[in-house]
Amino acid sequence: MKEKRPSATAQRVAMRRAAHQLLDDPKVFDDPVAVRIIGRESASALQAEPRQFEAAPLSSYLRAFVAARSRYAEDELAMGVRRGVRQYVILGAGLDTFAYRNPHPRGMLNVFEVDHPSTQAWKRARLEEVGIALPDDLTFAPVDFETQILEEGLRQTGYEPGKCTVFSWLGVTEYLTPEVVMATLRFIASAPAGSGIVFDYMISPSLLTPAQRSRFDELARRVALAGEPWQASFDPQLLINGLRAIGFEYVEDNGPEEINARYFKDRKDGLRVGSLSHVMLARV
Ligand SMILES: C[S@@+](CC[C@H](N)C(=O)[O-])C[C@H]1O[C@@H](n2cnc3c(N)ncnc32)[C@H](O)[C@@H]1O
Repeated sequence: MKEKRPSATAQRVAMRRAAHQLLDDPKVFDDPVAVRIIGRESASALQAEPRQFEAAPLSSYLRAFVAARSRYAEDELAMGVRRGVRQYVILGAGLDTFAYRNPHPRGMLNVFEVDHPSTQAWKRARLEEVGIALPDDLTFAPVDFETQILEEGLRQTGYEPGKCTVFSWLGVTEYLTPEVVMATLRFIASAPAGSGIVFDYMISPSLLTPAQRSRFDELARRVALAGEPWQASFDPQLLINGLRAIGFEYVEDNGPEEINARYFKDRKDGLRVGSLSHVMLARV
């Protein structure tokens, strides 16, 4: 990320979640705050002509993936809450809106939004600008994953390491180095049994077909132009082995077949995810 500048990709993916609310029926991910949080100007422009924002050839795949990974994370959280999870840590939160529409009973779940300090300051200004109130059970933790230790950043905010926690880390690992990704996962593997993480990751380009590779290169070019180049990508089997080796008990890798079967089956509009990224669930 560019120093002292909020993440440009955070606004882009928030636009896709907002577009999903307006364009897709049925919705895979229902987010009543998604349109508001993109800001008044963007919301008016999107509402006036939602298709215009999603006209590029890869748009529907990206919109489907952004919707599906959030749905997956919040489904896992809901299951976790039933088994005693009491903390939800959203890593690289961007314009995630969970905290502002938390469906769980008041006081049951403490929510932590961790993000790069510049993005977090920008989000807080946005929340104020569009009149979204901060709930009592939300805590902000400004942390740069590349230069700060997540555990320390969280501890300073009242995060309790002894409590069962679900983490989500959506649309972030590709912007970090593989070493930082694995160090963060090691910390999460030390959380109490019953905790877990949902994150997505890019497939190593060496495993892609030429057609997939050209889509990968096109998307990589776009994010690099936005000042947020991709750094990490993984071989799914090696990542699964790595997660088991650092202590996760249950690991479930979801590629396009699994995600499409779970969330996009029998749709009339053909909405579905593409093949460049996977969603991983790892439980302690
Ligand atoms: C594509 S956005 C995804 C935001 C959000 N998770 C979502 O799905 O809408 C990437 C996020 O990663 C965060 N990020 C990137 N590099 C980071 C770093 N070194 N430390 C902390 N956060 C970082 C950005 O601030 C941004 O919020």
